Amino acid sequence: MVEREMELPVRVVQITDTHLFRDPRAALLKLNTQDSFEKVMELVIQNESGIDVVLGTGDIAQDASREAYLRFAQAMQPLNAPFYWIPGNHDRRQVMETLTPFEHAFSNLVTFGKWQIVLLDSSVAGEVHGRLHERELQHLERTLRAVPRHPEVEHVLVCLHHNPVDGSAGWMSGIGLHNQEEFLAIIERHACVRAVLYGHIHQELDFERQGVRYLCTPSTCIQFKPQVQDFTLDDVNPAYRTLLLQPDGRIDTQVVRVTGHAFEVDHTSTGY
Ligand SMILES: [Fe+2]
Repeated sequence: MVEREMELPVRVVQITDTHLFRDPRAALLKLNTQDSFEKVMELVIQNESGIDVVLGTGDIAQDASREAYLRFAQAMQPLNAPFYWIPGNHDRRQVMETLTPFEHAFSNLVTFGKWQIVLLDSSVAGEVHGRLHERELQHLERTLRAVPRHPEVEHVLVCLHHNPVDGSAGWMSGIGLHNQEEFLAIIERHACVRAVLYGHIHQELDFERQGVRYLCTPSTCIQFKPQVQDFTLDDVNPAYRTLLLQPDGRIDTQVVRVTGHAFEVDHTSTGY
C-alpha cells in the first residue's frame, strides 16, 4: 500500500513493447529498438514529473535475454518511480525473475489511494497469442470482489499484455487473448473497473465497452497499421502513454509520440 494524498491523481506512465535485444545494435524490421526506446525515454524524462508508477506492459525483450531486461530496468531508474512489468509473448518470466534487484517489479497488485492497479500475466510459453491462466483469473476475481469492502479503494485499472478485444487488422485475428470471454465476464461483473490497459498490437486505441475504457498503447518501436487485412507497418512514430487516475474515477490519458525524427522500417515485411 502506497500512502498518498487521497485527492491527488495517480500519475502513471506506460511503456510497452520495447522489444529490446541482447545486442543493443540489433534491429527489428530494420528499426533499432534500443535507439527508439531511448528516444521515447528521453521524451518521458523531458515531459513528465512526479510520476507515481511506471507500467511496462510486456514484450520488454524481443529475445528474452537477461541483458535486454537489465537495460530496460536500468532505464527506468532516472524516473524515480517504482516500475512494474508483465511478460508479453516475446518475454520469458523465468529470465525476468533472475534480476533480483528488480524483484518488486513482479507485484501483481499495487494500491495508490483510491486506485488499485491489477497486473495480469497473459503470456503462454512459445505462443504469440495470450491466455489468462486460472490462477490469473482468480487473482482478478478475488481482487475485484474485495474492492467494495476496502476502506479506501474505489477504482481499478487492469493491465495485461494481450489485447482482450480483437484487433482491427485481419492478420491480428487469433493473436489476442484467447479466453477473452472469461476475462470480459469478470471485468463486466464488477462496477469498480474503470479501464483495461494493454499493448501487443502496437497501436493507439481508446474505446469503451460496457462502461469500461479499453486503452491500447503504441510500442516504443515498430507500429502496426490498423484496419488492414495483411501485416502492414504504420508510419507513425514510437510513443508512450500517460494516465492521470483521478480520485473520482476519471482517467485523463494521452499518447505522446517522438517527433522530429524519422525512423526507418522495413515496409516490405510480411510479419514480425
Ligand atoms: Fe510487441
